Amino acid sequence: MASHIMRRLARRSVTGILTGDNLGRRFGSAAANSDLIRATLFPGDGIGPEISESVKQVFKVAEVPIEWEEHYVGTDIDPRTQSFLTWESLESVRRNKVGLKGPMATPIGKGHRSLNLTLRKELNLYANVRPCYSLPGYKTKYDDVDLITIRENTEGEYSGLEHQVVRGVVESLKIITRQASLRVAEYAFHYAKTHGRQRVSAIHKANIMQKTDGLFLKCCREVAEKYPDIVYEEVVIDNCCMMLVKNPALFDVLVMPNLYGDIISDLCAGLIGGLGLTPSCNIGEGGIALAEAVHGSAPDIAGKNLANPTALLLSSVSMLRHLDLHEKANAIQDAILNTIAEGKYRTGDLGGRATTAEFTKAICDHL
Ligand SMILES: NC(=O)c1ccc[n+]([C@@H]2O[C@H](COP(=O)([O-])OP(=O)(O)OC[C@H]3O[C@@H](n4cnc5c(N)ncnc54)[C@H](O)[C@@H]3O)[C@@H](O)[C@H]2O)c1
Repeated sequence: MASHIMRRLARRSVTGILTGDNLGRRFGSAAANSDLIRATLFPGDGIGPEISESVKQVFKVAEVPIEWEEHYVGTDIDPRTQSFLTWESLESVRRNKVGLKGPMATPIGKGHRSLNLTLRKELNLYANVRPCYSLPGYKTKYDDVDLITIRENTEGEYSGLEHQVVRGVVESLKIITRQASLRVAEYAFHYAKTHGRQRVSAIHKANIMQKTDGLFLKCCREVAEKYPDIVYEEVVIDNCCMMLVKNPALFDVLVMPNLYGDIISDLCAGLIGGLGLTPSCNIGEGGIALAEAVHGSAPDIAGKNLANPTALLLSSVSMLRHLDLHEKANAIQDAILNTIAEGKYRTGDLGGRATTAEFTKAICDHL
């Protein structure tokens, strides 16, 4: 089974991502000439700096031609972004068009504009692509998970429009637009087509949210008509959760509004061994790709050398594929998967006793 999954991974480049304007073509010659490609790095909060350090070490050993431009979350609110992220940080991503982001903490129910929302909105990161597949050699209940969730990333329940109507009554607006729905649906179908995938499932609750999710589905149907070779289906979110837990092989590519994507992708992470393992990449207008782990800043283990860097490392592999640096991407992906499959060095979340540094060293030794 392990070798079967390995072959499938290699064929599909599951950590691969795609943009309409593939940066790789533009950077291809630079990489071939071994010139350095500049990429933005946000180490982020909590475990972010520790796992970012792992990525930097692995890239160094693998001799990846990337020069990091590091940006930290500030301590004061920048009025231009209304958050602790500075305008210069955002400009760095706009300029480099490619980057890697560690987790960023958001205080619950108060404080500043969420750092993640700021990034998504200011950089128009409209699709979040989260590959989720069984890792060869790491046994969970399921051996054959191989699916991609694609989450609309800019609107829906994350529009940030909340207010008090009267004392004791608050309102939150879920915004769904035709433009954003068509854009993410188009991305999902194009992804399916170019990655040899057969089926796209639109996940919704249009039986209750008839106008908002109804519009989302209408847009997905319109796009589906342009892709007659891809099977299109619609699944209500509650049923989708049950089906995923019962038999994840029922799904291939899933596309959905913002909040559903957040929840479903964490559920999918649970199917394959947890948040420490699942990468993602945010796709923006104009060819921007900002890769990031699905997990948060894990304050409970931050600074203790306990975090699993796999999710961020696999996200960095996505970034390399985006740049068409497939040889480096394959080498790093193989080293990660082989280290986990070998079982000698695993972090605590995978039932092992290795520290972040020991696990990282083992990956470097496999390179
Ligand atoms: N994209 C992001 O930057 C992002 C995503 C989710 C949450 N957050 C933020 O992160 C903070 C903490 O959120 P949370 O606790 O709900 O979720 P979390 O993902 O940080 O942690 C959930 C659980 O998973 C564990 N975990 C997560 N990543 C791990 C890793 N790499 N290795 C080992 N264990 C890992 C944690 O220890 C914790 O037990 C919050 O402020 C939240 O807003 C940020």
